[in-house]
Amino acid sequence: MTFIITTPLYYVNDKPHLGSVYTTIICDTIARYKRLLGEKVIFITGVDEHGLKIQRTALENGLTPSEHCDQISDTFLKSWKNWNITFDKFIRTSSNHHEKIVGQFYERVKKSDDIYMGVQKGWYCVGCEEFKDNPDNSPNTQCPIHKKNLEWKNEENLFFRLSKYQNEIEKLVSDPNFIEPKERRNEIINFVSKGLRDFSISRTNLNWGINVPKENKHTFYVWFDALLGYISALSLNNQEFSLENTLSIGWPANIHLIGKDILRFHAVYWPAMLMSAGIETPNKVFGHGFLTREGQKMGKSLGNVLDPNLLLSKYGNDPVRWFLLKDISLGSDGDFQDRRFVDIINNDLANTIGNLLNRSTSMSRKWFENNTPSDFSDLNDNICKLSTETVNNYLAYLNKYNLDLALGEILNFAIKINLYLNDEQPWVLIKNSDNIQRVKFVIYNVLESSRIIGQLLKPILPNLSNKIDDQLGLVYLENLTWTEQLNWGHLKKGTNLPKPNPIIEKLNYE
Ligand code: MSP
Repeated sequence: MTFIITTPLYYVNDKPHLGSVYTTIICDTIARYKRLLGEKVIFITGVDEHGLKIQRTALENGLTPSEHCDQISDTFLKSWKNWNITFDKFIRTSSNHHEKIVGQFYERVKKSDDIYMGVQKGWYCVGCEEFKDNPDNSPNTQCPIHKKNLEWKNEENLFFRLSKYQNEIEKLVSDPNFIEPKERRNEIINFVSKGLRDFSISRTNLNWGINVPKENKHTFYVWFDALLGYISALSLNNQEFSLENTLSIGWPANIHLIGKDILRFHAVYWPAMLMSAGIETPNKVFGHGFLTREGQKMGKSLGNVLDPNLLLSKYGNDPVRWFLLKDISLGSDGDFQDRRFVDIINNDLANTIGNLLNRSTSMSRKWFENNTPSDFSDLNDNICKLSTETVNNYLAYLNKYNLDLALGEILNFAIKINLYLNDEQPWVLIKNSDNIQRVKFVIYNVLESSRIIGQLLKPILPNLSNKIDDQLGLVYLENLTWTEQLNWGHLKKGTNLPKPNPIIEKLNYE
Protein backbone atom coordinates (compact mmCIF):
# COMPACT_ATOMS: atom_id res chain seq x y z
CA MET A 1 0.00 0.00 0.00
CA THR A 2 1.21 3.45 -0.89
CA PHE A 3 0.45 6.41 1.34
CA ILE A 4 -0.29 9.50 -0.72
CA ILE A 5 -0.31 12.92 0.87
CA THR A 6 -0.70 16.25 -0.91
CA THR A 7 -0.30 19.94 -0.17
CA PRO A 8 -2.43 22.33 -2.22
CA LEU A 9 -0.79 23.33 -5.48
CA TYR A 10 0.19 26.87 -4.65
CA TYR A 11 -0.67 29.81 -6.86
CA VAL A 12 2.41 31.34 -8.37
CA ASN A 13 1.20 34.90 -8.01
CA ASP A 14 3.81 35.32 -5.30
CA LYS A 15 6.66 33.49 -3.57
CA PRO A 16 5.81 31.12 -0.68
CA HIS A 17 4.28 32.77 2.37
CA LEU A 18 3.98 31.54 5.92
CA GLY A 19 0.64 29.84 5.11
CA SER A 20 2.18 27.71 2.37
CA VAL A 21 5.19 26.91 4.53
CA TYR A 22 2.82 25.88 7.32
CA THR A 23 0.88 23.39 5.16
CA THR A 24 4.04 22.01 3.62
CA ILE A 25 5.74 21.46 6.99
CA ILE A 26 2.70 19.56 8.27
CA CYS A 27 2.70 17.32 5.19
CA ASP A 28 6.44 16.83 5.46
CA THR A 29 6.08 15.69 9.07
CA ILE A 30 3.33 13.23 8.21
CA ALA A 31 5.26 11.93 5.18
CA ARG A 32 8.41 11.42 7.26
CA TYR A 33 6.38 9.68 9.95
CA LYS A 34 4.80 7.24 7.50
CA ARG A 35 8.19 6.49 5.92
CA LEU A 36 9.64 5.78 9.36
CA LEU A 37 6.81 3.30 9.89
CA GLY A 38 8.06 1.55 6.78
CA GLU A 39 5.25 2.65 4.45
CA LYS A 40 5.83 3.62 0.85
CA VAL A 41 4.97 7.30 0.63
CA ILE A 42 4.27 9.63 -2.26
CA PHE A 43 4.32 13.19 -1.02
CA ILE A 44 2.98 15.52 -3.68
CA THR A 45 3.32 19.26 -3.86
CA GLY A 46 3.53 21.73 -6.70
CA VAL A 47 2.25 24.90 -8.23
CA ASP A 48 -0.99 26.09 -9.78
CA GLU A 49 0.07 28.21 -12.70
CA HIS A 50 -2.93 28.97 -14.89
CA GLY A 51 -5.82 31.39 -14.70
CA LEU A 52 -6.63 35.06 -14.79
CA LYS A 53 -4.85 35.86 -11.54
CA ILE A 54 -1.53 34.53 -12.78
CA GLN A 55 -1.96 36.04 -16.24
CA ARG A 56 -2.53 39.47 -14.68
CA THR A 57 0.35 39.14 -12.22
CA ALA A 58 2.74 38.26 -15.05
CA LEU A 59 1.56 41.27 -17.03
CA GLU A 60 2.07 43.56 -14.03
CA ASN A 61 5.64 42.25 -13.76
CA GLY A 62 6.28 42.81 -17.47
CA LEU A 63 6.74 39.09 -18.14
CA THR A 64 4.97 36.49 -20.23
CA PRO A 65 2.91 34.12 -18.05
CA SER A 66 5.29 31.30 -18.78
CA GLU A 67 8.40 33.35 -17.86
CA HIS A 68 6.68 34.46 -14.70
CA CYS A 69 5.69 30.89 -13.80
CA ASP A 70 9.23 29.62 -14.40
CA GLN A 71 10.59 32.21 -11.99
CA ILE A 72 8.11 31.69 -9.18
CA SER A 73 7.96 27.93 -9.43
CA ASP A 74 11.73 27.94 -9.12
CA THR A 75 11.39 30.03 -5.97
CA PHE A 76 9.04 27.43 -4.54
CA LEU A 77 11.42 24.60 -5.35
CA LYS A 78 14.34 26.44 -3.77
CA SER A 79 12.30 27.29 -0.77
CA TRP A 80 11.25 23.69 -0.16
CA LYS A 81 14.88 22.69 -0.47
CA ASN A 82 15.88 25.26 2.12
CA TRP A 83 13.19 24.01 4.46
CA ASN A 84 14.41 20.44 3.91
CA ILE A 85 11.01 19.31 2.63
CA THR A 86 11.03 15.68 1.51
CA PHE A 87 8.46 15.88 -1.28
CA ASP A 88 8.50 13.12 -3.89
CA LYS A 89 6.67 14.93 -6.69
CA PHE A 90 6.57 18.58 -7.63
CA ILE A 91 3.93 19.15 -10.26
CA ARG A 92 3.66 22.25 -12.44
CA THR A 93 0.23 22.62 -14.00
CA SER A 94 1.70 24.36 -17.06
CA SER A 95 3.63 21.20 -18.01
CA ASN A 96 2.72 19.16 -21.11
CA HIS A 97 2.51 16.11 -18.92
CA HIS A 98 -0.24 17.63 -16.82
CA GLU A 99 -2.08 18.94 -19.86
CA LYS A 100 -2.36 15.42 -21.29
CA ILE A 101 -3.88 14.04 -18.11
CA VAL A 102 -6.39 16.91 -17.98
CA GLY A 103 -7.42 16.15 -21.57
CA GLN A 104 -7.94 12.45 -20.87
CA PHE A 105 -9.85 13.16 -17.71
CA TYR A 106 -12.12 15.59 -19.54
CA GLU A 107 -12.92 12.92 -22.14
CA ARG A 108 -14.08 10.58 -19.38
CA VAL A 109 -16.31 13.23 -17.83
CA LYS A 110 -17.74 14.03 -21.24
CA LYS A 111 -18.48 10.37 -21.82
CA SER A 112 -20.51 10.36 -18.61
CA ASP A 113 -22.61 13.10 -20.21
CA ASP A 114 -21.64 15.55 -17.50
CA ILE A 115 -20.53 18.45 -19.71
CA TYR A 116 -22.82 20.94 -21.45
CA MET A 117 -22.60 24.45 -22.84
CA GLY A 118 -24.32 27.20 -20.89
CA VAL A 119 -24.07 30.83 -19.95
CA GLN A 120 -22.26 31.83 -16.80
CA LYS A 121 -23.32 35.15 -15.38
CA GLY A 122 -22.11 36.27 -12.02
CA TRP A 123 -19.69 38.10 -9.78
CA TYR A 124 -16.17 36.75 -9.76
CA CYS A 125 -13.23 37.12 -7.38
CA VAL A 126 -10.01 36.82 -9.36
CA GLY A 127 -8.02 36.29 -6.14
CA CYS A 128 -10.10 33.21 -5.25
CA GLU A 129 -10.76 32.32 -8.91
CA GLU A 130 -14.32 31.69 -7.83
CA PHE A 131 -17.82 33.08 -8.39
CA LYS A 132 -19.21 34.76 -5.28
CA ASP A 133 -22.61 35.73 -3.97
CA ASN A 134 -23.39 39.42 -4.37
CA PRO A 135 -26.99 39.87 -3.23
CA ASP A 136 -26.97 43.68 -3.90
CA ASN A 137 -25.46 43.22 -7.36
CA SER A 138 -23.21 46.13 -6.49
CA PRO A 139 -19.93 46.56 -8.41
CA ASN A 140 -18.41 47.84 -5.16
CA THR A 141 -18.91 44.57 -3.31
CA GLN A 142 -15.57 43.18 -2.20
CA CYS A 143 -14.38 39.62 -1.73
CA PRO A 144 -14.22 39.10 2.05
CA ILE A 145 -10.88 37.30 1.68
CA HIS A 146 -9.08 39.44 -0.89
CA LYS A 147 -10.74 42.80 -0.14
CA LYS A 148 -10.93 43.53 -3.86
CA ASN A 149 -14.02 44.40 -5.90
CA LEU A 150 -15.83 41.48 -7.48
CA GLU A 151 -15.91 41.52 -11.30
CA TRP A 152 -18.99 40.91 -13.41
CA LYS A 153 -18.72 38.01 -15.88
CA ASN A 154 -21.19 37.00 -18.53
CA GLU A 155 -19.88 34.41 -20.95
CA GLU A 156 -20.61 31.17 -22.64
CA ASN A 157 -18.90 28.40 -20.67
CA LEU A 158 -18.86 24.67 -20.48
CA PHE A 159 -20.61 23.40 -17.38
CA PHE A 160 -20.07 20.35 -15.21
CA ARG A 161 -23.23 18.60 -13.95
CA LEU A 162 -22.43 18.79 -10.25
CA SER A 163 -26.13 18.63 -9.38
CA LYS A 164 -26.27 15.05 -10.66
CA TYR A 165 -24.02 13.99 -7.77
CA GLN A 166 -26.14 15.48 -4.98
CA ASN A 167 -26.94 12.17 -3.29
CA GLU A 168 -23.50 10.67 -3.65
CA ILE A 169 -21.81 13.81 -2.33
CA GLU A 170 -24.25 14.02 0.58
CA LYS A 171 -23.31 10.47 1.50
CA LEU A 172 -19.61 11.13 1.14
CA VAL A 173 -19.47 14.29 3.25
CA SER A 174 -21.50 12.73 6.03
CA ASP A 175 -18.80 10.08 6.49
CA PRO A 176 -16.96 11.23 9.63
CA ASN A 177 -13.62 10.10 8.24
CA PHE A 178 -13.82 12.12 5.05
CA ILE A 179 -13.66 15.73 6.23
CA GLU A 180 -11.70 16.90 9.24
CA PRO A 181 -11.91 18.73 11.54
CA LYS A 182 -15.52 18.16 12.56
CA GLU A 183 -16.58 21.83 12.53
CA ARG A 184 -15.53 22.12 8.91
CA ARG A 185 -17.41 18.95 8.04
CA ASN A 186 -20.59 20.52 9.36
CA GLU A 187 -20.04 23.63 7.21
CA ILE A 188 -19.77 21.45 4.14
CA ILE A 189 -22.74 19.26 5.06
CA ASN A 190 -24.73 22.45 5.41
CA PHE A 191 -23.53 23.78 2.06
CA VAL A 192 -24.36 20.53 0.27
CA SER A 193 -27.80 20.31 1.88
CA LYS A 194 -28.77 23.58 0.17
CA GLY A 195 -28.52 21.82 -3.19
CA LEU A 196 -25.52 21.58 -5.48
CA ARG A 197 -25.46 23.76 -8.57
CA ASP A 198 -23.61 22.92 -11.78
CA PHE A 199 -20.43 24.95 -12.19
CA SER A 200 -18.58 26.23 -15.19
CA ILE A 201 -15.35 24.49 -16.06
CA SER A 202 -14.14 26.62 -18.95
CA ARG A 203 -13.37 30.25 -19.66
CA THR A 204 -13.39 32.23 -22.86
CA ASN A 205 -11.19 35.33 -23.30
CA LEU A 206 -8.47 33.73 -21.24
CA ASN A 207 -5.42 32.47 -23.07
CA TRP A 208 -3.36 31.39 -20.10
CA GLY A 209 -4.90 27.98 -19.56
CA ILE A 210 -5.19 24.52 -21.07
CA ASN A 211 -7.22 24.46 -24.28
CA VAL A 212 -10.41 22.45 -24.05
CA PRO A 213 -10.22 19.78 -26.77
CA LYS A 214 -12.47 20.60 -29.72
CA GLU A 215 -13.71 23.84 -28.12
CA ASN A 216 -11.64 26.51 -29.77
CA LYS A 217 -12.37 29.54 -27.68
CA HIS A 218 -12.31 27.74 -24.33
CA THR A 219 -9.58 27.12 -21.83
CA PHE A 220 -10.19 25.04 -18.71
CA TYR A 221 -11.24 26.81 -15.52
CA VAL A 222 -8.14 26.92 -13.34
CA TRP A 223 -9.63 24.80 -10.53
CA PHE A 224 -10.76 22.03 -12.89
CA ASP A 225 -7.22 21.97 -14.23
CA ALA A 226 -5.35 22.32 -10.94
CA LEU A 227 -7.13 19.63 -8.92
CA LEU A 228 -6.00 17.13 -11.51
CA GLY A 229 -2.43 17.93 -10.58
CA TYR A 230 -2.89 15.52 -7.66
CA ILE A 231 -3.20 12.74 -10.21
CA SER A 232 -0.85 13.92 -12.96
CA ALA A 233 1.91 14.28 -10.34
CA LEU A 234 1.93 10.52 -9.88
CA SER A 235 3.31 9.74 -13.34
CA LEU A 236 5.56 12.79 -13.55
CA ASN A 237 8.82 11.93 -15.36
CA ASN A 238 7.33 8.72 -16.80
CA GLN A 239 7.85 8.55 -20.54
CA GLU A 240 4.83 6.35 -21.20
CA PHE A 241 1.77 7.34 -19.31
CA SER A 242 -1.99 7.52 -19.56
CA LEU A 243 -4.63 8.46 -17.04
CA GLU A 244 -5.28 4.75 -16.61
CA ASN A 245 -1.76 3.70 -15.74
CA THR A 246 -1.14 6.89 -13.76
CA LEU A 247 -3.94 5.90 -11.42
CA SER A 248 -2.43 2.45 -10.98
CA ILE A 249 0.72 4.03 -9.51
CA GLY A 250 -1.28 4.82 -6.40
CA TRP A 251 -4.74 6.26 -6.03
CA PRO A 252 -6.79 7.40 -4.15
CA ALA A 253 -4.85 9.96 -2.16
CA ASN A 254 -4.91 9.17 1.55
CA ILE A 255 -5.08 12.79 2.59
CA HIS A 256 -5.35 16.18 0.94
CA LEU A 257 -4.11 18.68 3.47
CA ILE A 258 -5.40 22.16 2.65
CA GLY A 259 -6.43 25.46 4.22
CA LYS A 260 -10.02 25.91 5.30
CA ASP A 261 -10.74 28.45 2.54
CA ILE A 262 -10.47 25.86 -0.22
CA LEU A 263 -12.34 23.02 1.44
CA ARG A 264 -15.39 23.23 -0.82
CA PHE A 265 -13.29 22.64 -3.92
CA HIS A 266 -11.65 19.60 -2.38
CA ALA A 267 -14.56 18.05 -0.50
CA VAL A 268 -17.37 18.70 -2.99
CA TYR A 269 -16.28 19.67 -6.51
CA TRP A 270 -13.26 17.39 -6.73
CA PRO A 271 -14.97 14.19 -5.52
CA ALA A 272 -17.88 14.82 -7.91
CA MET A 273 -15.45 15.28 -10.80
CA LEU A 274 -13.78 12.01 -9.85
CA MET A 275 -17.09 10.18 -9.54
CA SER A 276 -18.01 11.38 -13.01
CA ALA A 277 -14.74 10.04 -14.39
CA GLY A 278 -15.19 6.72 -12.57
CA ILE A 279 -12.23 7.33 -10.27
CA GLU A 280 -12.10 6.70 -6.53
CA THR A 281 -12.49 9.71 -4.25
CA PRO A 282 -9.72 10.65 -1.79
CA ASN A 283 -9.86 9.10 1.66
CA LYS A 284 -9.62 12.32 3.61
CA VAL A 285 -9.63 16.08 3.21
CA PHE A 286 -8.18 17.92 6.18
CA GLY A 287 -8.82 21.67 6.35
CA HIS A 288 -6.31 23.42 8.59
CA GLY A 289 -6.79 26.85 10.11
CA PHE A 290 -5.35 30.22 9.17
CA LEU A 291 -2.31 31.89 10.63
CA THR A 292 -2.45 35.46 11.83
CA ARG A 293 0.38 37.64 13.08
CA GLU A 294 0.16 39.28 16.49
CA GLY A 295 -3.62 38.84 16.24
CA GLN A 296 -3.97 40.45 12.81
CA LYS A 297 -4.59 38.99 9.39
CA MET A 298 -1.34 39.06 7.40
CA GLY A 299 -1.44 41.17 4.29
CA LYS A 300 0.77 43.26 2.08
CA SER A 301 -1.32 46.37 2.70
CA LEU A 302 -1.01 45.91 6.47
CA GLY A 303 2.75 45.57 6.06
CA ASN A 304 2.86 42.68 8.54
CA VAL A 305 3.61 39.75 6.26
CA LEU A 306 6.08 37.41 7.89
CA ASP A 307 8.63 36.39 5.29
CA PRO A 308 9.31 32.67 5.87
CA ASN A 309 12.83 33.04 4.45
CA LEU A 310 13.70 35.61 7.08
CA LEU A 311 12.20 33.42 9.75
CA LEU A 312 14.29 30.51 8.55
CA SER A 313 17.56 32.43 8.46
CA LYS A 314 16.92 34.13 11.79
CA TYR A 315 15.70 31.16 13.85
CA GLY A 316 16.42 28.01 11.85
CA ASN A 317 14.20 25.19 10.65
CA ASP A 318 13.69 23.22 13.88
CA PRO A 319 12.35 26.11 15.97
CA VAL A 320 9.86 27.16 13.29
CA ARG A 321 8.67 23.59 12.80
CA TRP A 322 8.29 23.05 16.54
CA PHE A 323 6.34 26.26 16.98
CA LEU A 324 3.95 25.70 14.08
CA LEU A 325 3.27 22.08 14.93
CA LYS A 326 3.15 22.37 18.71
CA ASP A 327 1.44 25.68 19.31
CA ILE A 328 -1.34 25.31 16.73
CA SER A 329 -3.76 22.46 16.91
CA LEU A 330 -4.22 21.13 13.38
CA GLY A 331 -7.55 22.49 12.20
CA SER A 332 -7.62 25.55 14.45
CA ASP A 333 -6.44 29.05 13.59
CA GLY A 334 -3.09 30.07 15.02
CA ASP A 335 -1.33 33.29 15.82
CA PHE A 336 2.36 33.97 15.30
CA GLN A 337 3.67 36.18 18.08
CA ASP A 338 7.39 36.88 18.23
CA ARG A 339 7.63 36.86 22.01
CA ARG A 340 5.62 33.70 22.38
CA PHE A 341 7.71 32.06 19.68
CA VAL A 342 10.99 32.86 21.46
CA ASP A 343 9.60 31.78 24.85
CA ILE A 344 8.32 28.47 23.56
CA ILE A 345 11.54 27.59 21.78
CA ASN A 346 13.68 28.53 24.77
CA ASN A 347 11.48 26.66 27.23
CA ASP A 348 10.68 23.55 25.25
CA LEU A 349 13.72 22.95 23.09
CA ALA A 350 16.61 24.71 24.82
CA ASN A 351 15.75 24.45 28.54
CA THR A 352 13.79 21.22 28.65
CA ILE A 353 15.00 18.89 25.87
CA GLY A 354 18.43 20.39 25.14
CA ASN A 355 19.44 20.87 28.73
CA LEU A 356 18.40 17.38 29.74
CA LEU A 357 20.74 15.91 27.17
CA ASN A 358 23.53 18.31 27.97
CA ARG A 359 23.39 17.73 31.71
CA SER A 360 23.14 13.96 31.48
CA THR A 361 25.89 13.46 28.92
CA SER A 362 28.20 15.80 30.86
CA MET A 363 27.65 13.92 34.11
CA SER A 364 28.07 10.55 32.46
CA ARG A 365 31.32 11.59 30.81
CA LYS A 366 32.64 13.07 34.01
CA TRP A 367 31.86 10.12 36.23
CA PHE A 368 32.22 7.17 33.85
CA GLU A 369 35.34 7.91 31.77
CA ASN A 370 33.50 9.59 28.88
CA ASN A 371 31.13 6.64 28.57
CA THR A 372 27.56 5.72 29.25
CA PRO A 373 27.26 3.86 32.59
CA SER A 374 27.92 0.11 32.68
CA ASP A 375 28.02 -2.71 35.20
CA PHE A 376 24.90 -1.91 37.11
CA SER A 377 21.67 -3.73 37.69
CA ASP A 378 18.24 -2.33 37.04
CA LEU A 379 16.20 -0.97 39.92
CA ASN A 380 12.51 -0.27 39.78
CA ASP A 381 11.91 3.37 38.88
CA ASN A 382 9.15 3.04 36.31
CA ILE A 383 10.95 5.31 33.85
CA CYS A 384 10.85 2.50 31.36
CA LYS A 385 7.07 2.26 31.83
CA LEU A 386 6.69 6.02 31.42
CA SER A 387 8.62 5.84 28.18
CA THR A 388 6.43 3.06 26.79
CA GLU A 389 3.29 5.02 27.65
CA THR A 390 4.70 8.12 26.01
CA VAL A 391 5.59 6.24 22.84
CA ASN A 392 2.16 4.61 22.63
CA ASN A 393 0.31 7.88 23.13
CA TYR A 394 2.55 9.65 20.64
CA LEU A 395 1.92 7.02 17.95
CA ALA A 396 -1.82 7.07 18.59
CA TYR A 397 -1.91 10.86 18.27
CA LEU A 398 0.14 10.92 15.08
CA ASN A 399 -2.10 8.28 13.54
CA LYS A 400 -5.03 10.64 14.11
CA TYR A 401 -3.07 13.68 12.83
CA ASN A 402 -3.15 15.22 16.32
CA LEU A 403 0.33 16.59 15.82
CA ASP A 404 0.22 19.12 18.65
CA LEU A 405 -0.75 16.40 21.12
CA ALA A 406 1.99 14.09 19.86
CA LEU A 407 4.54 16.85 20.38
CA GLY A 408 3.02 17.51 23.80
CA GLU A 409 3.74 13.90 24.73
CA ILE A 410 7.43 14.37 23.92
CA LEU A 411 7.63 17.57 25.90
CA ASN A 412 5.81 16.16 28.94
CA PHE A 413 8.10 13.17 28.96
CA ALA A 414 11.14 15.47 28.89
CA ILE A 415 9.69 17.56 31.72
CA LYS A 416 9.12 14.44 33.85
CA ILE A 417 12.64 13.18 33.23
CA ASN A 418 14.07 16.55 34.23
CA LEU A 419 12.07 16.30 37.46
CA TYR A 420 13.31 12.78 38.01
CA LEU A 421 16.88 13.97 37.63
CA ASN A 422 16.31 16.84 40.03
CA ASP A 423 14.67 14.53 42.58
CA GLU A 424 17.38 11.90 42.39
CA GLN A 425 20.21 14.46 42.60
CA PRO A 426 22.95 12.13 41.31
CA TRP A 427 25.47 14.96 41.82
CA VAL A 428 24.85 14.57 45.58
CA LEU A 429 24.67 10.77 45.50
CA ILE A 430 27.99 10.44 43.68
CA LYS A 431 29.82 11.88 46.68
CA ASN A 432 29.29 8.60 48.53
CA SER A 433 30.74 5.52 46.81
CA ASP A 434 27.95 3.33 48.29
CA ASN A 435 25.58 5.02 45.86
CA ILE A 436 27.43 4.22 42.66
CA GLN A 437 24.91 1.61 41.46
CA ARG A 438 22.04 4.02 41.91
CA VAL A 439 23.89 6.86 40.16
CA LYS A 440 24.67 4.64 37.20
CA PHE A 441 21.07 3.52 36.98
CA VAL A 442 19.68 7.07 37.15
CA ILE A 443 22.09 8.44 34.57
CA TYR A 444 21.36 5.53 32.26
CA ASN A 445 17.62 6.19 32.58
CA VAL A 446 18.04 9.83 31.72
CA LEU A 447 20.34 9.16 28.77
CA GLU A 448 18.03 6.46 27.44
CA SER A 449 15.06 8.79 27.82
CA SER A 450 16.96 11.40 25.82
CA ARG A 451 17.57 8.81 23.14
CA ILE A 452 13.85 8.02 23.00
CA ILE A 453 13.08 11.75 22.80
CA GLY A 454 15.51 12.00 19.89
CA GLN A 455 13.72 9.17 18.10
CA LEU A 456 10.30 10.65 18.73
CA LEU A 457 11.53 13.91 17.24
CA LYS A 458 12.73 12.20 14.05
CA PRO A 459 9.73 13.02 11.81
CA ILE A 460 9.14 16.38 13.48
CA LEU A 461 12.54 18.02 13.92
CA PRO A 462 14.85 15.89 11.80
CA ASN A 463 17.92 18.09 12.37
CA LEU A 464 17.59 18.24 16.12
CA SER A 465 16.89 14.53 16.23
CA ASN A 466 20.14 13.80 14.39
CA LYS A 467 22.04 16.06 16.75
CA ILE A 468 20.65 14.12 19.72
CA ASP A 469 21.73 10.85 18.08
CA ASP A 470 25.22 12.27 17.55
CA GLN A 471 25.52 13.40 21.15
CA LEU A 472 24.64 9.90 22.28
CA GLY A 473 27.04 8.26 19.81
CA LEU A 474 24.23 6.23 18.30
CA VAL A 475 25.75 4.93 15.09
CA TYR A 476 25.20 1.30 15.99
CA LEU A 477 21.41 1.50 15.90
CA GLU A 478 21.09 1.77 12.17
CA ASN A 479 20.13 -1.86 11.66
CA LEU A 480 16.96 -1.49 13.73
CA THR A 481 13.68 -0.20 12.33
CA TRP A 482 12.48 3.08 13.74
CA THR A 483 9.66 1.45 15.69
CA GLU A 484 12.15 -0.98 17.21
CA GLN A 485 14.28 1.98 18.22
CA LEU A 486 11.34 3.40 20.13
CA ASN A 487 11.56 0.46 22.54
CA TRP A 488 13.34 0.96 25.82
CA GLY A 489 16.89 -0.21 26.38
CA HIS A 490 18.74 0.23 23.09
CA LEU A 491 21.33 2.63 24.49
CA LYS A 492 24.39 0.47 24.99
CA LYS A 493 26.01 0.43 28.37
CA GLY A 494 29.63 1.54 28.54
CA THR A 495 29.95 3.18 25.12
CA ASN A 496 31.73 6.35 24.29
CA LEU A 497 29.95 9.69 24.49
CA PRO A 498 31.29 12.55 22.38
CA LYS A 499 32.02 15.94 23.90
CA PRO A 500 28.73 17.68 24.73
CA ASN A 501 27.69 20.41 22.35
CA PRO A 502 24.45 22.33 22.90
CA ILE A 503 21.94 20.97 20.38
CA ILE A 504 20.06 24.23 20.24
CA GLU A 505 20.99 27.82 21.02
CA LYS A 506 18.71 29.97 23.12
CA LEU A 507 16.95 32.66 21.11
CA ASN A 508 16.90 36.34 22.00
CA TYR A 509 14.20 38.94 21.57
CA GLU A 510 15.13 41.67 19.13
N1 MSP B 1 -4.07 27.22 -6.06
C1 MSP B 1 -5.03 26.99 -5.07
C2 MSP B 1 -5.00 25.55 -4.62
C3 MSP B 1 -5.22 24.57 -5.70
S1 MSP B 1 -5.09 22.94 -5.11
C4 MSP B 1 -5.39 22.00 -6.41
C5 MSP B 1 -4.76 27.92 -3.89
N2 MSP B 1 -3.53 28.36 -3.76
S2 MSP B 1 -3.05 29.43 -2.68
O1 MSP B 1 -1.65 29.59 -2.93
O2 MSP B 1 -3.84 30.61 -2.73
O3 MSP B 1 -3.30 28.85 -1.30
C6 MSP B 1 -2.62 27.74 -0.88
C7 MSP B 1 -2.91 27.40 0.54
O4 MSP B 1 -2.42 28.38 1.43
C8 MSP B 1 -4.39 27.23 0.84
O5 MSP B 1 -4.55 25.99 1.47
C9 MSP B 1 -4.68 28.34 1.79
O6 MSP B 1 -5.64 27.95 2.70
C10 MSP B 1 -3.36 28.52 2.47
N3 MSP B 1 -3.22 29.80 3.13
C11 MSP B 1 -3.25 31.04 2.59
N4 MSP B 1 -3.11 31.97 3.58
C12 MSP B 1 -2.97 31.34 4.76
C13 MSP B 1 -2.72 31.74 6.07
N5 MSP B 1 -2.63 33.01 6.43
N6 MSP B 1 -2.57 30.77 7.00
C14 MSP B 1 -2.59 29.43 6.67
N7 MSP B 1 -2.81 29.02 5.45
C15 MSP B 1 -3.12 29.94 4.50
O7 MSP B 1 -5.68 28.19 -3.11
